[in-house]
Amino acid sequence: MSVIRPAAVVVLAAGEGTRMKSATPKVLHELCGRSLVGHVLAAADELGPEQLVVVVGHAREQVTAHLAEVAPQARTAVQARRNGTGHAVRIGLEELGGVLDGTVVVVCGDTPLLTGGTLRALARTHTEDGNAVTVLTAEVPDATGYGRIVRDAASGAVTAIVEHKDASDAQRAIREINSGVFAFDGPLLAEALGKVRTDNSQGEEYLTDVLGILREAGHRVGASVAGDHHEIAGINNRIQLSEARRALNGRLLREAMLAGVTVVDPASTWLDVTVTYEQDVLVHPNTLLQGATHLGQGAEVGPNSRLRDTRVGAGARVDNTVSEGAEVGESASVGPYAYLRPGTRLGLKAKVGTYVETKNAVVGEGSKVPHLSYVGDATIGEFTNIGAASVFVNYDGEHKHHTTIGSHCRTGSDNMFVAPVTVGDGVYTAAGSVITKDVPPGSLAVARGQQRNIEGWVARKRPGSAAAKAAEAAAREPGGAG
Ligand code: UD1
Ligand code: MG
Repeated sequence: MSVIRPAAVVVLAAGEGTRMKSATPKVLHELCGRSLVGHVLAAADELGPEQLVVVVGHAREQVTAHLAEVAPQARTAVQARRNGTGHAVRIGLEELGGVLDGTVVVVCGDTPLLTGGTLRALARTHTEDGNAVTVLTAEVPDATGYGRIVRDAASGAVTAIVEHKDASDAQRAIREINSGVFAFDGPLLAEALGKVRTDNSQGEEYLTDVLGILREAGHRVGASVAGDHHEIAGINNRIQLSEARRALNGRLLREAMLAGVTVVDPASTWLDVTVTYEQDVLVHPNTLLQGATHLGQGAEVGPNSRLRDTRVGAGARVDNTVSEGAEVGESASVGPYAYLRPGTRLGLKAKVGTYVETKNAVVGEGSKVPHLSYVGDATIGEFTNIGAASVFVNYDGEHKHHTTIGSHCRTGSDNMFVAPVTVGDGVYTAAGSVITKDVPPGSLAVARGQQRNIEGWVARKRPGSAAAKAAEAAAREPGGAG
């Protein structure tokens, strides 16, 4: 690694990305849990460069703020006016002090599928062959728009890169293209950039011209051909973004499956690069696993679920659920149709069932909230059962308050726990109770109106109605009243 460690990586990210038709700068578009430029930086990081600079231009405040978050080690250089890739590299190098001894690697901020492995192979070829410049190339089915790699017919050596717009018909037939990724000798790059001209169809300083300049000066020019051309695909519009998403997702799913995860339907399962898992996880169709989500040994997730920043314990079952910032304990059960919000922590074998929403709620070992409930700002002890259709009334219109329920409680159906309130261990509550006062351990709490039956009301107030007739018939039956 130290042999190929570059002096610097320069990331080009000053372009606007007009074809994205977006208020968001192109390199900040998201792909499997990272920005486009974030993916490029992650790959660059695997080279362990001594310095890292990102050339920004369009929407630079936004891009710089994002870089400060995802790559605080990166410096930024501002290219105020778009004068071409050569100009952009020149500005990046100036930020790093001009001439750098050692290898300088240049990558574009919009090639998110590029891997660290491919960059390492490029840097290795560059160093081992003693090249002045090595370009990463690939054979693509459709080379439209790309710079073409022109090789010497006899020796096969790379002689130049010709941009699509400047290419002859014969050159346009070439399917080997410039990926936009290069390794350069630092001092030779600086020298050659000074000689790049703008007499081309776009009136820009092309970085690609450096190749011809170095070759004419008698230096070695080499190429490293990428094994998989998908890896160097640049994102220019949302169709390419979706294709890259599918490709990267496929890569992540293959890794997961080889690591022991069963993916029932790879076509409808989506992973972020940050998701982790253990063996014998089972993922059902239509499932999105995002952010820092972790799936423990033997966990079963989906179908139709979206989990973000959620830890699922070993052997837990999460079915038809949306979850964010939650922790699901070992062998716990969630759903179908549950919504876990941030701060939810379910203990060992706990259960959050159907049509249940939780937020900032701890549900202890073996405790259950099986049906139709809202549990917000609450702590529930162990082995407690919360009756169906209960609401933890946490909000008084201005502030949120906490409810504490003890262990081994049996709360009735349709309870309201009006926070702040504390229910002790081993408490029972009656169905339909509105609990506004603390309940001491071991009590039965009844907090509802008394039932009153007004006999004969229907016959008096609704004479002749179907209800009255039904009541009359019931009264005539053996054992009936009357
Ligand atoms: C470039 C290459 C082309 C290659 C293709 C691969 C040149 C002249 N052409 O073409 O050979 O096949 O990439 O995708 O290098 N940028 C700046 N400042 C500028 C211009 C560009 O930072 O002034 C950045 C862009 O944000 C982008 C990258 O450089 O990240 C490439 O620029 P782009 O306009 O996409 O170049 P292409 O025409 O695609
Ligand atoms: Mg491009």
